[in-house]
Amino acid sequence: MKPLASHFSYLPPLVFASLLALAFPAPSFAANPDNKVEFKKEGKVVRAFSVDRLRAIALERALEVFEPHERRNRVYRVLPARAVFAEVFGRDWEKAREIVFTAIDGYQPSVPVKKFLHHDGYFAFANENREPFTLTNKLQNNEVVPLGPLYLVWNNIGSKELLEAGASDMPYQIKTIELKMKGAFPNMIPPSGSSKQVQRGFEHFRRHCAACHTINGEGGGKAPELNYPESIVEYIKPEYLKRWILAPQTIRYNTMMPGLGEEISNREQVAAEIIAYLKTMSRAKRAPSENPGDISR
Ligand code: HEC
Repeated sequence: MKPLASHFSYLPPLVFASLLALAFPAPSFAANPDNKVEFKKEGKVVRAFSVDRLRAIALERALEVFEPHERRNRVYRVLPARAVFAEVFGRDWEKAREIVFTAIDGYQPSVPVKKFLHHDGYFAFANENREPFTLTNKLQNNEVVPLGPLYLVWNNIGSKELLEAGASDMPYQIKTIELKMKGAFPNMIPPSGSSKQVQRGFEHFRRHCAACHTINGEGGGKAPELNYPESIVEYIKPEYLKRWILAPQTIRYNTMMPGLGEEISNREQVAAEIIAYLKTMSRAKRAPSENPGDISR
């Protein structure tokens, strides 16, 4: 490989130095002040704030949470999510349907606004004990992941409901926060008249899968599309599909996909309902609209 400098030798030294800083960021022990978070409403950027600016508009505190990625308690420095939303979007945020978070790696969960009204969500930006702002993700091969700029956590200690949700509404490396006034993913919804089992499967899919995977191009961009052009129910044997959802590591060594949360009491049934939903969607395929890799156009 060519040394990096030769590619950029025509650049003035200062530009080169900052490019180097981008390629090899210094280990950050607190919030990285240059790392801006974008706030959007229905696709349009309304504000962009550094973490330090956010710290000036909302009251920070220390919060102990159960950390589902590490299966132990941890204490983070946090900003209350409701106060941040009110400051950035105004009071209107409470009338929105969902808030879509986009992480640096393409993980994209959408959290119902109701959840923020009924539970206390917080944006963590540093570790309380000044250790690096990272965690060891036991759900994903013990990968050590940086958490900044922002990490969504919940005051979950003592809440059965939040503990059961596990890590599903806890995105880290949040770089964009988008307010959606209507439902976020119309092409992911099963056809009207679908059975109760399929409807429940859809809810499970939204909660446990859609942050990483897309259906008809909608959802998170961290993992493969599951419905278009060929649905996974068409090319994966049914017994393997269920096993993949419950324990992917028993099929593919070192896979980055986490199994369905151990904290879910009726995992087998949840997996079966998700498969029922996926079968229904295999008969409701739509070409992803904004996908440059789409070969059908
Ligand atoms: C944290 C992100 C994440 C979540 C959550 C997740 N997956 Fe995955 N999934 C992945 C990744 C990454 C891959 C690719 C893994 C590999 O190739 O080893 C994958 C692969 C798959 C595959 C195999 C696709 C193929 O063609 O090889 C299926 C099927 C699948 N996931 C279904 C699901 C279902 C159903 C859920 C919800 C119960 C889910 N996933 C939740 C990240 C995730």
